[in-house]
Amino acid sequence: MKKIEAIVRPEKYEEVKDALESIEVRGITVSQVMGCGHQKGSTENVRGVDVSITMIPKIKFEIVVSTEEWAEKTIDVIQKTACTGHIGDGKIFVYDLDNVVRIRTNERGIKAI
Ligand SMILES: Nc1ncnc2c1ncn2[C@@H]1O[C@H](COP(=O)(O)OP(=O)(O)OP(=O)(O)O)[C@@H](O)[C@H]1O
Ligand SMILES: [Mg+2]
Repeated sequence: MKKIEAIVRPEKYEEVKDALESIEVRGITVSQVMGCGHQKGSTENVRGVDVSITMIPKIKFEIVVSTEEWAEKTIDVIQKTACTGHIGDGKIFVYDLDNVVRIRTNERGIKAI
C-alpha cells in the first residue's frame, strides 16, 4: 500500500479533486495548509522583500491506494492537473504504508482501503 501526499495551489483544488474522482480513488483527505519550498515563499510574495521565510497557503491531498500501479496513476493525474509550470506548483510525496484499519469493521490492509 502507498500513501500519496500532494501539496498543490489552492486554485487547483477543484481541478485536482475532479481528476481524482475520475480515476475512482477510494478515499481522499484534504487540508488547508501553509508552507514554503525552495524559494522560502519569497518570490511568491507580492512584496517580495522579506528575508525571513514566508508561508504560503496551499492545499494538501492525502490518498492511500493499494498498489504501485494505482500510485503511479494517481501521481500522474495530480502532476498533470496541478502543474502551471510556475514556481510554487507544489510537490508530491510518496510513502510505503504499513497498514490500514477500517474502524467500523476492524478490517485490515487492502480490504480496509
Ligand atoms: N522539502 C519539503 N518539505 C516539506 N514540504 C515541502 C517541501 N518542499 C515543498 N513543500 C511544500 O510544498 C509547497 C510548494 O512547494 P514549491 O512548489 O514551492 O516547491 P519548490 O521546491 O520550491 O519548487 P518550485 O521551484 O517549483 O517552486 C510548499 O509551500 C510546502 O508546503
Ligand atoms: Mg517554490
